[in-house]
Amino acid sequence: MKTELSAIFWAVLVLAGLASATAISPKPPKAPGLTYLYTVNITGGDLYEVGAGPRGTRIVVPILSGSFSGPKFKGTVLPLGGDWELVDANHPGNGTVTIDVRQTFKTDDGALIQVFESGATQTDGTAHVRLTYETGSQKYYWINSIVAIGIIRPLPAGSLQIQAWQMTTPT
Ligand SMILES: *[C@@H]1O[C@H](CO)[C@@H](O)[C@H](O)[C@H]1NC(C)=O
Ligand SMILES: *[C@@H]1O[C@H](CO)[C@@H](O)[C@H](O)[C@H]1NC(C)=O
Repeated sequence: MKTELSAIFWAVLVLAGLASATAISPKPPKAPGLTYLYTVNITGGDLYEVGAGPRGTRIVVPILSGSFSGPKFKGTVLPLGGDWELVDANHPGNGTVTIDVRQTFKTDDGALIQVFESGATQTDGTAHVRLTYETGSQKYYWINSIVAIGIIRPLPAGSLQIQAWQMTTPT
């Protein structure tokens, strides 16, 4: 019963897509926009090398502290996240690292926001990440449903900076 219902659902979507495809003029696709969300600075602790497992070499770096600030909110990063990095098993020599970060933001008005961040290092020395968020705060509830990306850049003294941007629909 479940599969039948979802099959009908998709059939309806496809039909709707066909109908609208004929109505849309062949304009070039427009890129979505990006709205600035915040900058966060993070200080990490000593790294722990878990070692070479089946998926590559796992390295864990705890988050010790941080602060974030943007047009809609600001606050601190609590010392309970980290980065679970994985060095590319096929090309371990050239520094490509997959990152898997969790941060916990505490806004200056007391809300907690869990941040999930995944991505990879780039050849230009930055890392590019996808960001998702989770909060129960009614004030910041909007952040649960945004699509966001970020760029990580190294700061002096073992710190990092991440600038985050929210995707917007083109007009
Ligand atoms: C992050 O660090 C930069 C450079 O050190 C500084 O200018 C900026 O104010 C910091 N931002 C936050 C939110 O801490
Ligand atoms: C890493 O090295 C491989 C060849 O071993 C190459 O194909 C790949 O593009 C390199 N990646 C980076 C990020 O340098």
